[in-house]
Amino acid sequence: MTGWEAGADLVVVGSGVAGLTAALDAAAAGLRVVVVTKDGITEGSTRWAQGGVAVVLGDVAGDSLDAHVADTLAAGGGLNDAAAVGTVVRAGPGAVRRLRERGALFDARGSRLDRTREGGHSAYRVVHAGGDATGAEVERALVAATRDAGITVLDGHVAVDALRDVTGRVVGLAALADDGTAGVLRAPAVLLATGGYGQLYASTTNPPTSTGDGVALALRAGAVAADLEFVQFHPTVLWTGPAVGRRPLVTEAVRGEGAILRDRAGTAFMAGVHPRADLAPRDVVAAAITRRMAETGSDCAFLDATALEGFAARFPTVYASCREAGIDPLTEPIPVTPAAHYACGGVVTDTWGRTGVPGLYAAGEVARTGLHGANRLASNSLLEGLVVGERVVRAVLADGGPAVLSAPVEPAPAVPVAARAVVQRAMSASAAIGRDASGLAGASDAIEAATVTAAPVDRTGVEDAALTLLAQAVLAAAGTRRESRGCHVRTDFPGRDDVHQNASLRVRVDGAGRPVVLSDALVGAA
Ligand code: SIN
Repeated sequence: MTGWEAGADLVVVGSGVAGLTAALDAAAAGLRVVVVTKDGITEGSTRWAQGGVAVVLGDVAGDSLDAHVADTLAAGGGLNDAAAVGTVVRAGPGAVRRLRERGALFDARGSRLDRTREGGHSAYRVVHAGGDATGAEVERALVAATRDAGITVLDGHVAVDALRDVTGRVVGLAALADDGTAGVLRAPAVLLATGGYGQLYASTTNPPTSTGDGVALALRAGAVAADLEFVQFHPTVLWTGPAVGRRPLVTEAVRGEGAILRDRAGTAFMAGVHPRADLAPRDVVAAAITRRMAETGSDCAFLDATALEGFAARFPTVYASCREAGIDPLTEPIPVTPAAHYACGGVVTDTWGRTGVPGLYAAGEVARTGLHGANRLASNSLLEGLVVGERVVRAVLADGGPAVLSAPVEPAPAVPVAARAVVQRAMSASAAIGRDASGLAGASDAIEAATVTAAPVDRTGVEDAALTLLAQAVLAAAGTRRESRGCHVRTDFPGRDDVHQNASLRVRVDGAGRPVVLSDALVGAA
């Protein structure tokens, strides 16, 4: 294996909305940027986002930035960082304007942008593109701008570890090429924009790239993660039978435009569950569907969009997925089920993307700024990626960084790793919606029994090690939080405990590379 070595001012790992926004701003500021991606530049999570970007542009009667803040806090179940919410929501209009200047085309109605509504929103404030293809349009615009700017993209490379000097400061990134060749990128700043960890579960809306690599890398570099137990399940993916991997999303905007959830007997069941019924926050809807499926012994629920006018034109992506599966949403209800969708937690950062490790930054789904709390408000994720993707470059410029010396190319250290299928089976069975102490402990034991210590030699090895670490971290946090809150539903602790558990759980790794929930994390919790 021959080592390779290169240098940059900023290494961006990942090519979603946060990563490419940062890369473009950094290049515009004169920094030498390299974007590292496992697949092509277009293969991240961003392209799969359907609903849109939640943003208050001042032209919707009755809506306001304060209302957007209030909805975000209400969805977040008491664990949002209110200052972070205010910062991100208020920076949204400017960030969306700059995205449009970069070429993103949003759907318009006359002279103003069209809006839709999703769960938990008190107003029609979600801008969208291509009907239900918002992520694809955002990605198209950012990829085109990245190519125009001549930014170096190193695709076919997986990030392995942050390189650090004797003080612990990050001085670069160790990576593996697809052919297994190890190398280093020397840089005073490394930005993780790697997305989430939906691949912990057998059924997910996430692409194969979402294996938690960024959170794992940051933890191994000494960073702290938080809110990892809050894995958001999207209430509605298309149910086509048991399957492993990415499932087609049925955007919440379908309910925003009037579709109704029904059980197998045709009964609309959300009305008695929450005042906003089918447009309750996502955690409420996903849990209600799961309960109803169990009560009726059904593998799925049904989303009835047959009364919607112009469905095929408004939701072309959903329509195409349904037709491919032999379902006609114009005449029959769409079979749907919840699936793992979004990591509300991640690497702890401020709203400038700074982790606690000098030189290491994180933005987008990989990060936990405190915007989402225990449950992300729909369409706040592209918003966060845009806002923090811009701000992190200002942080990198302000922080400066030492001139970086040549770093040796060393083999990756050995880390705990279990087979992906074991991890996905255990997490899907015991750490999805509806968890309890014995299931969580059993899942942890099953993964532990399958774990060996090995140095990753290729992308699969890096991903499986990340999934193993993330699984044990999610299980540890979920076992410690003995209450139900937001996306974390415990069947043995169904109530919310605001007296003792109204705080985020923080996680680090110990010397053996195992995740540890910090003992002071929850006041009064065992
Ligand atoms: C959706 O379109 O329902 C997903 C949007 C999101 O996850 O924010």
